[in-house]
Parts: sequence; C-alpha cells; structure tokens
Amino acid sequence: MLWLSVLGLLVVVTALMLRWRRPAWYWLTFGVTLAALRVLFRYASVMDACGLTVPPTRWRLALARATNRPVPGPRAPRILRLRPTRTGLVLRLGLRPGQDAFDVAASCDRLRHSFALYGVTSRELRSGVVEVRMTGYDVLKRVQMPAKRDTRRMRVPVALREDGAVHYRDYRAVPHALTLGATESGKSVYQRNLVAGLASQHVALVGIDCKQGVELFPLARRFSALADNPDTAAELLDALVAHMQDVYRLIRAEQRITADVPDAEIAADIWDLPADLRPVPVVVLVDEVAELALFANREEEKRRDRIITALARLAQLGRAAGIYLEICGQRFGSELGKGITMLRAQLTGRTAHRVNDESSANMAFGDIAPDAVLAAIQIPADLPGIAITGDSTGGWARIRAPHTSLRQAVNTCNRYADLAPDLPALVPFRPALGSPRPIPATPVESAPATA
Ligand SMILES: Nc1ncnc2c1ncn2[C@@H]1O[C@H](COP(=O)(O)OP(=O)(O)OP(=O)(O)O)[C@@H](O)[C@H]1O
Ligand SMILES: [Mg+2]
Repeated sequence: MLWLSVLGLLVVVTALMLRWRRPAWYWLTFGVTLAALRVLFRYASVMDACGLTVPPTRWRLALARATNRPVPGPRAPRILRLRPTRTGLVLRLGLRPGQDAFDVAASCDRLRHSFALYGVTSRELRSGVVEVRMTGYDVLKRVQMPAKRDTRRMRVPVALREDGAVHYRDYRAVPHALTLGATESGKSVYQRNLVAGLASQHVALVGIDCKQGVELFPLARRFSALADNPDTAAELLDALVAHMQDVYRLIRAEQRITADVPDAEIAADIWDLPADLRPVPVVVLVDEVAELALFANREEEKRRDRIITALARLAQLGRAAGIYLEICGQRFGSELGKGITMLRAQLTGRTAHRVNDESSANMAFGDIAPDAVLAAIQIPADLPGIAITGDSTGGWARIRAPHTSLRQAVNTCNRYADLAPDLPALVPFRPALGSPRPIPATPVESAPATA
C-alpha cells in the first residue's frame, strides 16, 4: 500500500514538473488523455453554458408527448470526430439546424476557459461542419516544428501557428510577400528560416542586403547572386528583369498552340514547360528594403527610381517567369516616395512582426484585415519572432518561426552549396567565396588612453 502511494506521489510530482518545465512533453504523456476525457465528460454541460445548444425539434417533442416520456433537453452540436495532435485536440462538430459557424467562433474564448485549455480557434470546413482546434499549452513560447511536414516544391514550412498547425510559405500560391516589423522584432530570423528551407530545393536564391550584407553574406555559398549596396542592387535588379524577358521568350517559343494540343498543356508559365526545359525558379530576398528607396542627392534619386521600377516590374510580371519576391523592412509606406504603394499592392503575402505604431501595422494589413492591425501592435517586445500573418482565406493568424541561429543557417547553406545554380544573367553578381578574414577578438589598435 505504501509503495502504491509513493508511486502515485511520484507520478503526480513528475506530471507537475513536466507541466512547468516541459509543457510539450507533459502534453504528450499526461495532458492529452486528461484533456480528451475532460472535453468528452463536460461537453454537453459546457455547450449548454456557452449557448451552443438548440431546443429539441418539434417531432421529438411530439414523440415524447405521444409516448408519455419526459420532455427532451436542448441539443449540442454532434461530435463527428475528436483527434489528439502533438499540441492539442481537434474537434469536428456537426452543427444543428439554426446554428452557424459564427456562433462557435464567438464562443471560442468561453470554450477555452471551460475546457481549461490554452487556446481555442474554429473554422468552417463545409456547410454545417466546424473544426475546433484546441491547444494544450503555449506552442509559440518555445517553437518546435513537427518532424512530419508537407514538403512540396516551392513550399517552405517556415513557422508554427498559434493553433499548432504549420505555417507554410507557398511561393506558387502566394508569389510575392512583404514582412514588416520594428527593429529587433525577428524579421531577419524569419528570412533566415526561409533561406534554410529553400536551400535544399532546386531554386536560385538572390539576395539584396543593404546592411552591408551582414545577414545574407554568411549564407553566400547557397546564393546565386548577392548585392550589399544600393548601386549593385540596381544593376542586379536590371539583370533580373533581363532574365525575366529571356524566360518569357522561352515560354513563347515553346507555346505552339495547335488544334491538337490539349488546353492543359499550353504553356503560360514555367511550370507548364517540360521539366528538361524549365528554367530554375528564382526567389529574391530583400532585407531592409527602405535603404533602396532613400536618397540624398539627384544621382541617388535616379538610382532609387530605377530600383523601384525594376522591383515593380518583377512584382507585376515575375510570377509566370518563376521569379518570387520576399521583401523585408521596418516600414514600407508612401513616405518612401512614388511607386511604393503600387509595389506594395502587388505583394500578396503579408506578415507583421512587432511594430511600434498603428501606421506601420496599417502598411501590412490596413487594406486587407483591419483587426490584424490591432493584433500586430499588441505583440509584446519580449517575444521576438512572434508575428501576425494574413492567410489565403482573408483571415489572419499568430505565428512564430523557430529560432534558427546564423550558424545553423550557414551550415545548411554550405551543405547544399552545390545546388546553387548559375544563371547567365546573374553571373557578375555571384558572391566571391574567399575564406573570410578572421575577426580579431580584441581591437587591433588600442584606444588612446584618456586622462
Ligand atoms: N523566432 C524567434 N524565436 C526566438 N528568438 C527570436 C526569434 N526571432 C528573433 N529572435 C531574437 O530576436 C533577435 C532579433 O532578431 P532579428 O535580427 O531577426 O530582428 P530584425 O527584425 O531583423 O532586427 P533589425 O531590424 O534590427 O535587423 C535575434 O537575435 C533573436 O535573439
Ligand atoms: Mg534584420
């Protein structure tokens, strides 16, 4: 008996310790079973308390009267499926007549408290069926990407969503994207994750990093072209526009529309071309984009106009030629001059890390999801990497990328260095790969002694 009590105590202490220090392990060992039982046992009363029940139908009332049975109670949505996941539970509900998906969405916060879970979100799967995703703990506190991910071509699992699902950057669905955020908010780490994710794919990476290349040049071995100042960036973007024209000429040459070619085989973009002819897709990563749009004299103004025009052309025409833009910056609004709002309108994917003011958040979401603006301003400063992302349904979600260090990204890029293709138009911009000069640990010249 004593042994049994000691064992029980040990299990309870282990569970509490895991819950405190390793919530992900706690969830997998104890949490998932306890939460599933809690949801199943409390389901009817919680739904009733949250106003998610409907009165019994007339025929049930009539049947009860005819058979002299007690009057049936209100009915909650049917549980179609309860699926445990690595981070929570997924409940699929069949709605009763008279209910709609908005009723469930409006009750998410109440359900979260009632089932004692960390987060609850809902979405409509099809008419009458709603999926409620519940997370058992704060999955964004310490991001661990699941080992099993859906890795398709040009689709990078870049971050984890608040509901435990993986957030993908899918270049074929959303060709161009804008990532905004105040300084130290996690933009470069997000971009680094993208580079690390794309490194193993057959894709050319082109980088423009006007911070003297501190973020992208360490990853140079996997890049086909790099620019670390606005002058080189202007030439590089012109070369990309020339590459785009070459690709369109190739598609035109291969298009041969005759009566016997089926509709699906007429090439309109690089993905319709046969694999042996298809040009390699190009992802252009721009860090600190505002640097490209600032100028101090007439010469620089001309260069700026050239850069913005080239970017706007790539954004408008690049998709079918397999050129995708990934633009990062602290702000990207009309105060940067003409052409910026036109360029921004072409950047479909929007992600905002922590921003300091509403107008910066508006640059990302003002025109697509106004309630995401508020969410972006509320991101706390002590959680870098948390971001709000607009999704294809017009909604938005909180995400966080895993903390990939520069060292890890460099190792990944070096491992896949052989995959960096040489594009003829971009050869002059191929980074020189000499062994980097070691940085001395202490200043070479000692500072003059102060009195
Ligand atoms: N996803 C993340 N998880 C944990 N920590 C992160 C994450 N993203 C960023 N950080 C932390 O925040 C710091 C700043 O990140 P980062 O350099 O990406 O910011 P930034 O927005 O690019 O800043 P700047 O505008 O100054 O370049 C990083 O050194 C890292 O310690
Ligand atoms: Mg940065």
